[in-house]
Amino acid sequence: MNQTTLLAIETSCDETAAAVAVDGGQDRPAPEVRSSVVASQVEIHREWGGVVPELASRQHLRDLCGVVERTLSDAHVGWTDLDAIAVTQGPGLVGSLLVGVAFAKSLALALERPLVAVNHLAGHIESLFLCHPDLALPAVVLVVSGGHSSLYHLPEAGTYRLLGRTRDDAAGEAFDKVAKLLGLSYPGGPVIDRLARAGDERSIRFPVARMTHPDRAPGAPTVQPPGFPMTPGRLDFSFSGVKTSVARYVQRHTAEHGRGLNERELADVCASFQRAVVDALLDGTFEAARRFGARSVGIAGGVSANSRLREVATAEGHERGVPVLFPTLHLATDNAAMIAAAGLRQLRAGATASRELKALPTLPLATGGAS
Ligand code: KG4
Ligand code: ZN
Repeated sequence: MNQTTLLAIETSCDETAAAVAVDGGQDRPAPEVRSSVVASQVEIHREWGGVVPELASRQHLRDLCGVVERTLSDAHVGWTDLDAIAVTQGPGLVGSLLVGVAFAKSLALALERPLVAVNHLAGHIESLFLCHPDLALPAVVLVVSGGHSSLYHLPEAGTYRLLGRTRDDAAGEAFDKVAKLLGLSYPGGPVIDRLARAGDERSIRFPVARMTHPDRAPGAPTVQPPGFPMTPGRLDFSFSGVKTSVARYVQRHTAEHGRGLNERELADVCASFQRAVVDALLDGTFEAARRFGARSVGIAGGVSANSRLREVATAEGHERGVPVLFPTLHLATDNAAMIAAAGLRQLRAGATASRELKALPTLPLATGGAS
């Protein structure tokens, strides 16, 4: 089989990213990533305590050409060496997505190459296969980031069946909002992760939400495990309660002591909050793995960089006899190598996009249908 060289572009949120990857062919299942460049906008958004969509799209416009040129030169390929262009179509911020989609469409048209539309969440899932090409299937995969907390069943590679998702905040969003109310900088996940190491995670009991009732405003349909009666939505998540609970705790503490949290108390709050989020995520993930007979569990997305999540998930997987796999830290947060991996898989399956492709900010990910 001839090699396919693909350029992938990712601009769904606040990272401008591009990557060049080559299809491994029949005997090499994992694509080879030749280059991957990420221009982070974190410094721009930090001042505002979160991503400002208007600033994000304008920065993508400034950065994208340079990021793509650098990616091609790092991979030692020219424009005409490219066989296909992949781009994140959604979900994400519409202004940000539009920049990548317009660029990719123009390039595909100018070079007369096929265009592949990738779902950002499929990209996060494929980051696992980039790092672990032999990931055992069927698998249950948790995608946990600033915008998403969703559980998928993968009966086979390239099929993603939605099992559950957050009903309110994403886990990363909860990390970022709690960090903000504690006066910490953006993004909050890595800061809380670091401060929590000095704290006692059992010092404060923040609530761990468990779903006992169906969602009153369900989104895309989720899949139920065969032969197991289960409350619809049992595998959903909710993180707004724990965030409010931290806010109340801090208010109460300030009123009682007449001062804010000292260093040790702050570390205890971070550790206890982090424990509540990690417990909720892993409770649902291992429950799904058990019910679907998963041979492995994958955890991807920005929050999968969390050190406590990695530690507890690995230990629990060991106890249950299910391997738990993570992407490398570079592939955990937003990047285009994962979009290239998903794009090459789709291209192999013949799934190319029309030149009329539109950015879809709420694009759902569910293939293989609901049952
Ligand atoms: O996947 P990602 O880069 O972008 C989205 O698609 O949202 O994820 C970013 C999110 C942010 O909310 C950030 O706070 C969180 O991932 N994050 C972490 C850690 N590193 C990044 N959360 C907890 N612990 C970390 N170490
Ligand atoms: Zn992401």
